[in-house]
Amino acid sequence: MAGQHEHGGTGEHDEQAAAAMFEPAGWDERYAGQERFWSGDPNPQVVAAVDGLAPGTALDVGCGEGGDVVWLAGRGWRVTGADFSAEGLARAARHTEQAGVADRVDWWQVDARKFEAGERSYDLVTSHYLHAPDGGMVEVTRRLAAAVAPGGLLLVVGHAPSHEFTQLSESHRNAMFLAAELLPALPDDFEPVAVEQRTRTLHRDSGPVEAEDSVLLARRARH
Ligand SMILES: C[S@@+](CC[C@H](N)C(=O)[O-])C[C@H]1O[C@@H](n2cnc3c(N)ncnc32)[C@H](O)[C@@H]1O
Repeated sequence: MAGQHEHGGTGEHDEQAAAAMFEPAGWDERYAGQERFWSGDPNPQVVAAVDGLAPGTALDVGCGEGGDVVWLAGRGWRVTGADFSAEGLARAARHTEQAGVADRVDWWQVDARKFEAGERSYDLVTSHYLHAPDGGMVEVTRRLAAAVAPGGLLLVVGHAPSHEFTQLSESHRNAMFLAAELLPALPDDFEPVAVEQRTRTLHRDSGPVEAEDSVLLARRARH
């Protein structure tokens, strides 16, 4: 959702603030505050990936306030919103209720760096702007892929390193990735559909600026 993941303007971009963004306490503090992040808009890459698909089951890992969860559920998908922040999930649950789609949604409080899909499998597994430190997104992507049902889609989107983010700390920038860096996480039965950076316009107080989204979209074989 535009606004929530635009890092400009807080003046807190030191290493301590960066470390807090990789742990649940930092996000809980953010979501428990009064600040409004919610725009209600879905992320453009999920809209593009899902366009024309028949609704099925979806898992959104790092769902935050649930904009993509609400949007997918509104199109008939049965959605699990997952995040390691209890406060984020509570905000997301309120939004699904307000949107009248709560009956098609459930929640899973889980850390993407450690979770096991186990028996769970989904027609779409999506993750937007969840960043793990020190190259950790390869391992996260491996875990996300394990949750994709045969014939299903994996969509992982994050910030590409760019000049737009030079004000951020080194560990923030190290957590950003290019789509191709995630390819080693794909099991052999996945076929990449898109592995690229896509330009997105951020609306800042100072005016529009362009940033690059790293987009990995892959389909699992039907077996
Ligand atoms: C920048 S927000 C993006 C939220 C939403 N996907 C969106 O596009 O607006 C990142 C979200 O990922 C969650 N998150 C970050 N690291 C995580 C991890 N290791 N496991 C689970 N959730 C995580 C945060 O709590 C936060 O809600």
